[in-house]
Amino acid sequence: TAGPIISPSILAADFAALGQEVRAVSEAGADWIHLDVMDGHFVPNITFGPDVVKALRPHSAKVFDVHLMIAPADPYLAAFAEAGADAISVHVETGPHIHRSLQTIRTLGKRVGIALNPGTPASAIEPLIDMVDLVLVMTVNPGFGGQSFIPSTLETIARIKAMTAGRAIDIEVDGGITAENVGLAAAAGANAFVAGSAVFKGGPAGYAERIAAIRAGA
Ligand code: DX5
Ligand code: ZN
Repeated sequence: TAGPIISPSILAADFAALGQEVRAVSEAGADWIHLDVMDGHFVPNITFGPDVVKALRPHSAKVFDVHLMIAPADPYLAAFAEAGADAISVHVETGPHIHRSLQTIRTLGKRVGIALNPGTPASAIEPLIDMVDLVLVMTVNPGFGGQSFIPSTLETIARIKAMTAGRAIDIEVDGGITAENVGLAAAAGANAFVAGSAVFKGGPAGYAERIAAIRAGA
């Protein structure tokens, strides 16, 4: 099996210098770049849309791991695909037609991701598991960076690991991940790790060292 995938979340980057930031973490050893899209409706915060993803695309050749925290998501899926997303994750909680959203992402030729909140049981995604390349397990309540990892999500990760046995599905964790706790998520079954504050806090001189420390802990 391949090594851990580290996906720095630019939510914690300097928004006035996003192109430079994406370039810097790419050069510092990021495997994927995690882009958090928030609508002020599904989550209580607003970030950016497809035009920003498009503007960042020339700054990195890494996988653009787009996390949509928007409802509805369907009207925007094509725009994110065209903007340069490689993987698009939609939340299972965003509406009654999540199956259709996943079908649409597949049709657009992108990696299909399903995300779930800490309050959502693993069983909620069971009927969808054969449709996805990626399960994004929220380990904080989405909306903000810098929150603490919620330990009960370890059980969700383990259940999804069992559910995906024998399949080529990445299990990604997102929220409050640090070099200290990443090993717990890895032991439960995660192989991809989003980190915002743990990478960006402290500035660009430390990006390589902090990414390496998270990788070493996983
Ligand atoms: C939370 C976002 C996360 C966030 C993680 O809503 O989905 O990707 O940026 O930030 P940290 O690592 O600081 O918890
Ligand atoms: Zn995220």
